[in-house]
Amino acid sequence: MFITFEGPEGSGKTTVSNIIVNRLEKLGYKVIKTREPGGTPIAEAIRNVILDPKNTNLDPRAEALLYAASRRQHLVEKVWPAVSEGKIVICDRFLDSSLAYQGGARNLGVDNILSVNMFATEGTFPDLTLLFDIAPEDGLKRIAANANREVNRLDLEKIDFHKKVRETFLELAEKYNERFVIVDANRPLEDVVENTWLIIKKKLGI
Ligand code: TYD
Repeated sequence: MFITFEGPEGSGKTTVSNIIVNRLEKLGYKVIKTREPGGTPIAEAIRNVILDPKNTNLDPRAEALLYAASRRQHLVEKVWPAVSEGKIVICDRFLDSSLAYQGGARNLGVDNILSVNMFATEGTFPDLTLLFDIAPEDGLKRIAANANREVNRLDLEKIDFHKKVRETFLELAEKYNERFVIVDANRPLEDVVENTWLIIKKKLGI
């Protein structure tokens, strides 16, 4: 089972996914928690190039290709082996982030980004994608309140960029409704966790 957590900055998906992984492990499931870009040493090295706030002149297409390269490496080294061993892989961001950020917000076109990624992933899609939906104003407010979180190059984009990210995520959720479930992330953490847990349990049939 390959499950991805998607959403704009400050949606709380990382905190929620850690709690869900804990609960699954307590039930005896073998779970791998990972993230994109990154998740393996080579993919983390690519992540550092992409997210470094000093790289202000990183070209948008080059950025899209780096995300796809990092994704490929992460699939080969980590995701595919774990899934074939019967583990549950929970990944913080995947393909849909590229479609929303590079395809939608950077205006490279969702279809262009999909085709680059089809080469990278050989057509691997998640079994389930949870979209933690929140207005960018509210998400960015949460980030500002959380002094522990590093600020990355994409956090520094203007509000219109983040609005376009959200809009594209919602379009993707409609287009791929067989694998997407939307979670209202603008609620207290306990509610978001419980809603997410119900969705995961349903998918696992427990
Ligand atoms: P990260 O610190 O993981 O952000 P978050 O905690 O919000 O998930 O940084 C990942 C950043 O990279 C985030 O701004 C979204 C962006 N991103 C893309 O633009 N395209 C992609 O394909 C992926 C995976 C992430």
